[in-house]
Amino acid sequence: MDGNGRWAGRRGLPRTLGHRQGIEAVRRTVRHAGARGIAVLTLFAFSRENWNRPQAEVNELMSLLRRYISADLDELDENNVRITVIGGRADLSEELTRLIDDAEARTRQNDGRDLVLAFNYGGRDEIVRAVQRAAAAAARGEIAPDELDEETFSRYLDTAALPDPDLVIRTSGELRISNFLLWQSAYAEYAFPKTLWPDFSEAMFDEALADYATRQRRFGAVPVSLAKP
Ligand code: FPP
Repeated sequence: MDGNGRWAGRRGLPRTLGHRQGIEAVRRTVRHAGARGIAVLTLFAFSRENWNRPQAEVNELMSLLRRYISADLDELDENNVRITVIGGRADLSEELTRLIDDAEARTRQNDGRDLVLAFNYGGRDEIVRAVQRAAAAAARGEIAPDELDEETFSRYLDTAALPDPDLVIRTSGELRISNFLLWQSAYAEYAFPKTLWPDFSEAMFDEALADYATRQRRFGAVPVSLAKP
């Protein structure tokens, strides 16, 4: 969800107002993903690198997550959405951690669709934490090191119960992955609309989906029509 700062800057507003406006795009996108039958939507809301921003901006992003969960949890729950937050929990405040835990616990049995919020998230950090969990399980004798293959390893990631993403959309025209779902995106398709996140609309989401539908995904193999030896 890139471009909140630039959206605000172009209007002579503080960056924090760009993030606030970004929440409206979050609401639109979450509802539209539901309307389009998308089973899993993951939003990158705060990266581990975002701690390096000015304290006031960090505080605003923390408070936006708090307010978003508090204000929208009822609607999400009523719509049978299961909420999962991925990323490191150790650096978050006790209050925010409790709010996240409660939202996850309250929606755990929902089976309509998944909303995943990547918060204090970094792909490399997630992989390192997964390695730590796997190594600890090996030290306890629960798995042998050579039993660890791609499938077993992925169960130690924060996204353990979730499928890999089919499509990753980064708004604002930057052509970077920026540490997002590194392991899981191995075969994802990408879209880089130039729109700044607060302006991302239902129509632009549909455009990205329509373009995705034209891609031929081969996962390293050859197209079915050429598959004869
Ligand atoms: C990147 O834009 C965006 C972020 C660092 C935060 C995204 C957060 C939200 C949209 C609100 C919080 C969301 C939830 C679900 C609680 P940028 O600030 O890097 O923009 P710039 O590149 O134009 O400066």
